[in-house]
Amino acid sequence: MSLPLGKADVATTPTTRRLLRFGQIGYGYWGPLMLRNLARQENAEVVLLADLSEKRLADAERNHPGLATTNDTAKVLDDPQIDAVYIATPLGTHFDLARQALTAGKHVLVEKPLTGASAEARELIALAAEKELVLMVGHTFEYSPEVEYLRQLHISGELGRTYYINSSRLNLGIFRRDADVIWDLAPHDLSMINYIMGMKPQAVSARGASCVHDGLIDVAYIDLKYPENIIAHVHVSWLNPNKERRFTIVGDRRMVCYDDTAGNEKIKVYDRGVDRPDYASTFGEFQLSYRYGEIVIPFVQGSEPLAVECQHFAEAIRTGKAPRSDGEVGLTVVRTLEAAHDSIAQGGIYIDTNF
Ligand SMILES: NC(=O)c1ccc[n+]([C@@H]2O[C@H](COP(=O)([O-])OP(=O)(O)OC[C@H]3O[C@@H](n4cnc5c(N)ncnc54)[C@H](O)[C@@H]3O)[C@@H](O)[C@H]2O)c1
Repeated sequence: MSLPLGKADVATTPTTRRLLRFGQIGYGYWGPLMLRNLARQENAEVVLLADLSEKRLADAERNHPGLATTNDTAKVLDDPQIDAVYIATPLGTHFDLARQALTAGKHVLVEKPLTGASAEARELIALAAEKELVLMVGHTFEYSPEVEYLRQLHISGELGRTYYINSSRLNLGIFRRDADVIWDLAPHDLSMINYIMGMKPQAVSARGASCVHDGLIDVAYIDLKYPENIIAHVHVSWLNPNKERRFTIVGDRRMVCYDDTAGNEKIKVYDRGVDRPDYASTFGEFQLSYRYGEIVIPFVQGSEPLAVECQHFAEAIRTGKAPRSDGEVGLTVVRTLEAAHDSIAQGGIYIDTNF
């Protein structure tokens, strides 16, 4: 997708130097982190923040003296000064706010998951294309240096043929009321797998339980079938004694573990595996040889994923190049989450994603 620059004044200003004016909607738990990163960028400013809560606006004014705030979301959408809108509100509001912002001619970065239904995601994609605007979803981990390292490791062939992937994202809380644990946490795991492997899942089977709140799933096991016979498993929970962020890829040459809680040693690449026997010389015998080679802890140059994500959004607006986590990427995750819920409703059967 190629996006021409949207505003009349752009033609007279070199695109690399043009000041971008952001509006932000939502300043709860996540909004403050992104506002700091949006505001920190060169040649960009956040000109107006909207939130329904006066208390959250007062906090924002304390943290960012001089920042204009409003409890009227329409003021952000109607402001002709604003080029782009970042949306950090509960899932149920993403579609309406993003649609209104695109309709008003603003580029949009909306938090994950893009929407609560794939039909809504498709509508936003079509609207952004029609209006020649950037639509991006906040798949934070696609901008993390560790995830980029894993992607390059996969692309280089270092791991060999991938057998399977396992991802767990567990902690005690934070319980949400606007979305279950699948909509809340699994977008991270799914976007990581899709980005690293450069693939979309073909079918999904899931099981989940509502342990604390009736009707709101707080623990789930999601199984995915990817092309090339690769299988993946995602375990998400708000009800676990400790925090776990563990991502493993098992290949036939090497295995890699990414533990996001492990300080400076987040990634370990294991030269471990199982070598098959030479059946011709050991007829009738089933003997495998286990390989216990070295473990490498690579140095991964640190960078702040949110800063990279904000920069990427600004760059997409300035260059017209589709962002890494564009609407289609967001749709893939939304459709997969939807299929996971369909599977749970049907006792865990595999549901085709039908992309
Ligand atoms: N990328 C990440 O790693 C990450 C992490 C956490 C949350 N998130 C996402 O960020 C979004 C917000 O999550 P949160 O944890 O900050 O939620 P939150 O409930 O803490 O904050 C939401 C804020 O939006 C405001 N709000 C609600 N409806 C609004 C409306 N119509 N107009 C203006 N303001 C409105 C609320 O007053 C609140 O301050 C969710 O989509 C969530 O999935 C992303």
